[in-house]
Amino acid sequence: MKPVILDVDTGLDDACALLLAARHPALDLRAVTCVGGNVGLDEVVVNTVTVLDAAGRADVPVARGAALPLLQPVRPAPHVHGVDGLGDLDWPKSARRPDERHAVELLRDTLTTAARTGEKVALIPLAPMTNIALLLRTYPEAAAGISEIVFMGGAAGIGNATASAEFNIWTDPEAAAIVLAAAGDLGIGMTMYGLDVFYDVVVTLDEVRELAGSPSAELARRLIERRSELYRRDGATIGDGGAVCAVIDPAGLTTKRYPLRVELAGSWSRGRTIVDTRDWSADLSSDPYGAAPTVVDVATAVDGRKYADLWLETVR
Ligand code: BDR
Ligand code: CA
Repeated sequence: MKPVILDVDTGLDDACALLLAARHPALDLRAVTCVGGNVGLDEVVVNTVTVLDAAGRADVPVARGAALPLLQPVRPAPHVHGVDGLGDLDWPKSARRPDERHAVELLRDTLTTAARTGEKVALIPLAPMTNIALLLRTYPEAAAGISEIVFMGGAAGIGNATASAEFNIWTDPEAAAIVLAAAGDLGIGMTMYGLDVFYDVVVTLDEVRELAGSPSAELARRLIERRSELYRRDGATIGDGGAVCAVIDPAGLTTKRYPLRVELAGSWSRGRTIVDTRDWSADLSSDPYGAAPTVVDVATAVDGRKYADLWLETVR
C-alpha cells in the first residue's frame, strides 16, 4: 500500500477525493490536514471528519491547520460548495473531534515517523498550500518523509477564481511559491494536477444512480448530484479526486516537465501559475533572465474514463 496524506479544504470536490483516498485498497491514508479555503476552517474540519466517517474511516487522524492564507483574507466559495461547503445537503454532520495537534505538527510527526522506518509518504494538497508552506519552512527535515507532492492547483491555460488564476493558488499565492521553491531546494518531485485536466474526469447522473447501500456510496451519489445541479449539467467532474487517482494509477495521466512559477504581483494575474512552455530541452533550469525555477511534472492530459471508473468502483 502507498502511504498518503491529504491536505484539504473540504468542499464538495475534496469530499470526492477523500472518499476515494479513504477507501482505495492501494492507499494507506495516514492523516488528513485541514486549511481554510472553499469554506472557513471550522466547516472544513467538520466536513472532513463527516466524509471520513461516511467512508468508515474514523481511524484516520484529522488536524486543524491554518485558517487564513499567509498574506491575505480567505475568500470562500459558497456559490460553488454551498454555505456549509458540503452543498448544504441534509447529511448528518459528525461530532468527532479532530486531533489535538496543529496540522503542521501532525504532518511533521507522520512524515518523520515514516522516514525513521525508511518509508516515504505521498503528499496530496488539494487546497491552498498554506499548511504545506508552513511545514516546509518550519521543519524542512520533514521532507525526508515525502516521496512526492501531487497537488491540485494552477493551470497552464485559463483560471477559475479569476480569468488568470486557479482557486487554490489564487487563495494563497505566497504559500504556493514557498512550496515550489522548497521542493526545488529539497529535491521533492512535484506533479501539478491543474485545471488543464481537472474538468475531464466526469461521472454522469446515470452512473451515480447505482451508488447506494452504504454511507460512502450514498454520499458519493449525493455529492455528484449536487455538483451537477450547481453546474446545471448531466453529471459532474470528480474534481480533486482526479489528483488522488493520479497517485493510485499514474499511467492515466500524461505529464510534461516544465519550469513553474507563481505570479505574486499583477493587477489581474496574481495567483497565476506560469508554466514555462518554451523549449527547455537543453537545460530545464537554465533561465538566463530569472532565478532557477523549480521544474514540475505538469499534467497535460488525463484518461477521464479510466479515472471516472476508478472512482466509481472505489466509492461504491
Ligand atoms: C478547485 O476548486 C475548488 O472547488 C476546489 O478546492 C479545487 O481544489 C479547483 O480550483
Ligand atoms: Ca479543494
